Amino acid sequence: MSAAPPNQARAGELRRLLQRAAHAYYVLDAPEMEDSVYDGLYKELLELEAAQPELITPDSPSQRVGGTPAEGFSSVEHRIGLLSLDNAFNPGDLEAWYSRLLKVLDRTGDLAMVGELKIDGNALALSYEQGLLVQAATRGDGERGEQITANVRTIASVPLRLQLENPPAWVEVRGEALIPDDTFAAINAERAARGEALFANPRNACAGTLRQLDPKVVAARRLDFFAYTLHLPEEWQSAGGDPPRPSSQWQSLQWLQAAGFKVNPNAELLPNLAAVQAFFSAWDTGRRALPYATDGVVVKLNDLRLQDAAGFTQKAPRWAIALKYAAEEAPSILLRLTCQVGRTGVVTPVAEFEPVPLAGTTVSRATLHNAGRLAELDLHAGDTIVVRKAGEIIPEVVRVLSELRPAGAVRLELPQVCPECGSELVREEGEAATRCVNSSCPAILRGALRHWVSKGALDVDGLGAKLIEQLVDRGLVGSIADLYGLDGALLASLERIGAKSADNLVVALAASKQQPWHRQLYGLGIHHVGEVNAKALAKAFPSAADLATATANTPESITAVFGIGAEIAQSLQQWFATPANQLLLEDLERLGFSLAAGPEEPGTGPETPLTGQTFVLTGSLPSLSRSAAQALIEAAGGKVSGSVSKKTSYLVAGEEAGSKLSKAESLGVAVLDEAGLLELLKAGSG
Ligand code: IVH
Repeated sequence: MSAAPPNQARAGELRRLLQRAAHAYYVLDAPEMEDSVYDGLYKELLELEAAQPELITPDSPSQRVGGTPAEGFSSVEHRIGLLSLDNAFNPGDLEAWYSRLLKVLDRTGDLAMVGELKIDGNALALSYEQGLLVQAATRGDGERGEQITANVRTIASVPLRLQLENPPAWVEVRGEALIPDDTFAAINAERAARGEALFANPRNACAGTLRQLDPKVVAARRLDFFAYTLHLPEEWQSAGGDPPRPSSQWQSLQWLQAAGFKVNPNAELLPNLAAVQAFFSAWDTGRRALPYATDGVVVKLNDLRLQDAAGFTQKAPRWAIALKYAAEEAPSILLRLTCQVGRTGVVTPVAEFEPVPLAGTTVSRATLHNAGRLAELDLHAGDTIVVRKAGEIIPEVVRVLSELRPAGAVRLELPQVCPECGSELVREEGEAATRCVNSSCPAILRGALRHWVSKGALDVDGLGAKLIEQLVDRGLVGSIADLYGLDGALLASLERIGAKSADNLVVALAASKQQPWHRQLYGLGIHHVGEVNAKALAKAFPSAADLATATANTPESITAVFGIGAEIAQSLQQWFATPANQLLLEDLERLGFSLAAGPEEPGTGPETPLTGQTFVLTGSLPSLSRSAAQALIEAAGGKVSGSVSKKTSYLVAGEEAGSKLSKAESLGVAVLDEAGLLELLKAGSG
């Protein structure tokens, strides 16, 4: 055989190299090439292909996004039907399934199973011939689906060519296409900005995307794909370095991985039913930390010969079952609209509806976010709405079943005036939020008080929302400073508080005067000044007077603080220029607040950037190893500790952060990701 001409050989090498780099990046999550190097080589390949179109092969990375939009999709018959799965909702269902399986197989004892996450996306069937992707189809009705090959080619984690030495003449791979949560949020944010209808959930967004006629749109949506089923022709046997022919589901997953597919890393080989239960329970909480949606786990008999022996019912395999988590969406009837006024005056419309059980609790109110979202949902009293609550996430109304709207139903709208103080509400041009701008609005005052005493701020125990409400409603407290004039006898005369608790509260309030400067600053509730910003500002400006002077005279010294931009600087400037706020600072100082850094606090100590700050590391960070992160922190003068406490300054959380993260959140400890940590280090050194 004669050697390939130089350009052809070079194009082949480039394709192989680029494919390997893309696989490392998209499938293995372990980049092995700088983006700039990838881009340079890709450009070279594009130039070769432009000069000599005959060099273009169907698996070239340049061929992922097809040229022209499709007119529609053709329907294709599945070679092997795509069945669905039977569902189990409780341990009883699971045990019944398992005993039936034992009976059908005429076995006793334990059967090994594979537990996989049930990815809440859209099933796809991919056909490869001689190793090349030739067709991708949706599930459709299980017998016929839509042919969406051009769209699926844009999914970076779907290989265009199998990484096998001896690819089968034909093979079908099935799996789930999905849109990760962050991409979903970004897509919806863009749609909201353009005034388009929002997707209800990532699965709908994914289904909508797969049916886009223009592959360029699909490519921009960054779908992902997890492979989970392999249908190899009977005659295929492995050769060379290829993985052996699988005889179990577990080996099938390994085969798929070796062939270049992304396989969900959380699958587990489970020796018995108890292990299945444990897997299911563990992922009920574990799934909250995943960057994509799952609605249960799928349990599959491991041995492929036993799978064959168990066979299928009309609609589902007997050898597999889906264990579903409690529903997170449910219908209800909308009763009325109320409004919540937050501490910054932002008015949030709230839907009140017939109580429904959802994700473990009973829900009867859900946020509607803002006037824009309210208008988009077009809610009417008596509407049937769909409500969602995923775990810890606050309930929301995801859509309206307008077909079920009662005749003559009245459309619900935001009021013109603040429901708390009656002053006119304001919605600024280009802003999503509607606000009450009356600074003495009782709702704003209650919010400011709640924030002041909250964990991350002054951390005053024993002053809950109900007590604050009474204090404001009875006119006993008109500002943060007034809290410090309360005496035990007066407090004890209120509802829901005994003499002892009242005394304790007075002590706790007095003690809160010793909280460090950055907490006092955070507690003031200045717009955009969260805990991290408050720390950075408190460090750069060791007193309220310094900060006030800087906001007025040298705004550039504010934006020079790392992480602090013009928007925050402006918000600070406004805050300090407001007479009521100046009065508040004077009152606080008179009451004994330092409004300044103490001797131990950052900003005054010996000058290493992180002196006096304690860090806890948890989860795996995208690029830094645990020891590298620790070394960087220690080099900057910080300390690294093993467990989270009130004294922890920052929790640095990576992927799969667990209980430390929830503890930090409950204690109000600031949480950083890797980027945040690097920023902080940079801020310190700059
Ligand atoms: S196996 C005959 N494995 O769940 C067995 N399905 O409710 C077919 N799904 O249509 C499916 N994750 O879209 C399987 N690890 C997984 C899955 C999974 C999600 C979806 C799939 C299927 C649906 C059935």
